[in-house]
Amino acid sequence: MTAKGTALVTGASSGIGAAVVRRLAANGWEVHALARRAARLEALADETGCVPHALDIRDGAALARLMAGLAPDLLVNNAGLGAGITGLVTASREDIARTIDTNVTAVLELLRLTLPGMIARGRGHVVNLGSVAGLYPLVSAVYGASKGAIRLLSQNLRLELRGTGIRVTEICPGRVATEFYDAAVADPAARDRIKNTGIREISPDDIAGAILYAVSAPAHVNVSTIELQPVEQTYGGAQFDPIDWEDRE
Ligand SMILES: NC(=O)c1ccc[n+]([C@@H]2O[C@H](COP(=O)([O-])OP(=O)(O)OC[C@H]3O[C@@H](n4cnc5c(N)ncnc54)[C@H](OP(=O)(O)O)[C@@H]3O)[C@@H](O)[C@H]2O)c1
Repeated sequence: MTAKGTALVTGASSGIGAAVVRRLAANGWEVHALARRAARLEALADETGCVPHALDIRDGAALARLMAGLAPDLLVNNAGLGAGITGLVTASREDIARTIDTNVTAVLELLRLTLPGMIARGRGHVVNLGSVAGLYPLVSAVYGASKGAIRLLSQNLRLELRGTGIRVTEICPGRVATEFYDAAVADPAARDRIKNTGIREISPDDIAGAILYAVSAPAHVNVSTIELQPVEQTYGGAQFDPIDWEDRE
């Protein structure tokens, strides 16, 4: 074990996860990197010295095998996707299952496998990737439901873990420049519409920096929530869309 401890980062093959691996490795952590795309993880391992674990986070048996041999001090629950993000009405049953299984169920299962060890060792830090979609209405019912779950998971976990010394941080980003929408939206025209905002988005390394800040805080300080948004992205407001009520009565 290195001086800083052992970290497990999920969703490490691209975007925020890869940036977190780079930052943690550069700051003296032994980093274990999990995702499905083995070649990407191998390249990241060559670059950073991280230990690659190519597996599907929805595969409970594979997760259990991994965690039987791993005792992370830091777990970054980052793997996630937005299948069905263009709308519940147009989403398929498969879109809904992929989003909930990846963004919620796998996170709960990995925590279930990780926390007993952290509790026994008397220390640990869990960082959950939420989203502004878990805080505000953003016209994304499926994805918002999954990230809203991460919000309440993080808050409830702090209560369940009180007295253990384990810290729980939730990171809530606005738009980050990653492959997220490439994975989420299959139709090229719809993808271009959603993806090309014309604004300066947050970089994955900006998010990794915020995570490193939370992780590096003194042991008695729990950075509970960090919300980051591009200066050019805002949320909220009311909209009014008149309906002809006479027609319906
Ligand atoms: N980009 C944004 O604007 C934004 C905003 C707020 C929150 N977030 C959240 O930030 C997190 C990271 O997303 P990102 O923006 O960095 O997107 P990304 O570049 O698409 O990265 C997603 C990562 O999750 C991994 N992943 C997906 N399904 C997986 C599975 N079944 N098993 C293992 N790994 C899996 C992917 O790896 P493989 O495909 O190789 O498995 C990839 O490494 C997500 O939780 C996302 O919801 C993103």
